[in-house]
Amino acid sequence: MSELNNIALKILEKGKGILAADESTGTMTKRLDGVNVPSTPQNRLLFRETLFSASGMTKYIGGVILYDETIKQQTSKKNLIPELILNMGSYPGIKVDTGAKVLAGSPDEKITEGLDGLRERLKEYYKLGAKFTKWRGVYNISKSYPSKLSVQSNAHALARYSALVQECGMVPIVEPEVLMDGDHSAKDCFSKTSEVIKKCFEELILHKVDLTGIILKPNMILAGNKSKDKISNEEVAKLTLECLKNSVPSEVPGIAFLSGGQSEIEATENLNLINKNNNTSFIMSFSYGRALQQGALKFWSKDIQNIEGTQKIFNHRAKMNTLAAQGKWSKNLEN
Ligand code: 13P
Repeated sequence: MSELNNIALKILEKGKGILAADESTGTMTKRLDGVNVPSTPQNRLLFRETLFSASGMTKYIGGVILYDETIKQQTSKKNLIPELILNMGSYPGIKVDTGAKVLAGSPDEKITEGLDGLRERLKEYYKLGAKFTKWRGVYNISKSYPSKLSVQSNAHALARYSALVQECGMVPIVEPEVLMDGDHSAKDCFSKTSEVIKKCFEELILHKVDLTGIILKPNMILAGNKSKDKISNEEVAKLTLECLKNSVPSEVPGIAFLSGGQSEIEATENLNLINKNNNTSFIMSFSYGRALQQGALKFWSKDIQNIEGTQKIFNHRAKMNTLAAQGKWSKNLEN
């Protein structure tokens, strides 16, 4: 077994998942504005340190994705953040793309940037303790989108990123996110997501990426958030499994879903159903941002010194998702 495969399996072992705490300063400011907390470096650190030092980290969270600001910050006890995460029994990871920009040639779509100078930045993050990385490509669905250009160019970037990350001894999280914004049907989401993921693997293989040493982070198959024909959670699980079974090579050890705007309970319930019906060889777990942090953030914002109360909420959410990653969750456990 390769070292990269080991790391990927360790992150996702025993129902553990990933905490995506890699909001850029802009996105984090939006989240903090939403709960009326000033977005200062100290407050961003306080909230994140509160989560990273929660007891639930040890049993439920195998990896934490950090943002550049956080990986270089010191905890209140003067440790580096990656040390704190390692001490909690989890692996530190880092978002390395520099954001999605307007795609020249198709200005309604986005291309993710950050390849220039990436090899040098990766070396720095590796020295700081990162064991894995993340890069997110983003695609919107409409009648004519995602275009071939966006599917091709984002897959190319994800593959070049992954090859560089593995060269540096870290596990790349490959995140092609087909957004839920819009009035498209689940059927459209299914066909577009399949096309996007297949193209990603075509490029990953071309760039000689070791597929046993990556984690795929896809969206679930959902109807658009403005669509009239919603589908049941059972249907979400069935379509998601079918899509991944047909488009992901079997060497890939694990899949960790993004929550993408689903509510906390919805994201847990769908993951649980996926695992109850998992007829693939893949570990199916979570790499949630909002669906792991929303409740904790809301509670924390009322009294930012209430560390224990905030951690209790986070621990519960993390535990529910670990149960869901093993198909052992049920609604009555939420009370
Ligand atoms: P959400 O779970 O909030 O979609 O965030 C996951 C993520 O890392 C998006 O890039």
